[in-house]
Amino acid sequence: MNALDLSVEELDDLITLAEQIMKNPDKYSQCCNGKKLATCFYEPSTRTRLSFEAAMLNLGGRVLGFSSADSSSASKGESVADTIRVISSYADICAMRHPKEGAPLVASMYSSIPVINAGDGGHNHPTQTLTDLLTIKNLKGHFDHLKIGFCGDLKFGRTVHSLIDAMVRYPGVEFVLISPPELKIPDYLRKETLDDNDISYREVNDLDAVIGDLDILYMTRVQRERFFNEEDYIRLKDSFILDTEKMRLAKEDMLVLHPLPRVNEISTEVDNDPRAVYFKQAQYGVYIRMALILTLLEITVSS
Ligand code: CP
Repeated sequence: MNALDLSVEELDDLITLAEQIMKNPDKYSQCCNGKKLATCFYEPSTRTRLSFEAAMLNLGGRVLGFSSADSSSASKGESVADTIRVISSYADICAMRHPKEGAPLVASMYSSIPVINAGDGGHNHPTQTLTDLLTIKNLKGHFDHLKIGFCGDLKFGRTVHSLIDAMVRYPGVEFVLISPPELKIPDYLRKETLDDNDISYREVNDLDAVIGDLDILYMTRVQRERFFNEEDYIRLKDSFILDTEKMRLAKEDMLVLHPLPRVNEISTEVDNDPRAVYFKQAQYGVYIRMALILTLLEITVSS
């Protein structure tokens, strides 16, 4: 499951279901009795894995899985295809994170249960995008005509790629892509998603100069684990640091989102600013994943 596997209408349905769950969580607390979620994480995670597990537990289901390649038979050379064939007979649904781009897609081809992409390399992170969309809908009220600034590592930041893919489908959305030249968005995204669809965007490397124009500032960490050499990482890691001085230049209702984990790119002094919503964003992740699990398992709850 990738965010773009879903139409705008299907995305809207998921967001609506997540909002219903948020309003009345008790109503959904036994929906997945007897069902099992496998979390197959070949890369580290805090939010995605644990929010998937919390989501399934909140629905009355159970969870099993592994949290690193080292603790699975991948360390003995087992392929993703063989692993998912086996997991298919242990669980009803699987969330998979993998350092290789496309690995969850390959898994889905060999699986007899739904496989959710929980992040594949520097490519995509569709359930983070669902989380981001639920956050924007609840805190901004709409998706159209927003000016969104993406700041930091736009080359390797898979959450950025997925959210751009999702947001271009809403009218009047504009992007300001703020990064060092080395960490610009990949060419395929610029061409196929932005240029070919006549989306309004500009690429800059000065956050101060543009922050005052933005409705949403989506900060990202420089992805150390995807760099080929440490020297480049050290040179680029503190390219942008959002602090209270910069926040003074922003609109009163600009939202600061961040998929987390945060390293240095947002000063902790910003955390108390009501516009800083990244911890709330992480909470929304549980509700949207509950909605996704119910939808993929085709479990409906009568109103
Ligand atoms: N946002 C996110 O993917 O966080 P984790 O790496 O902790 O799952």
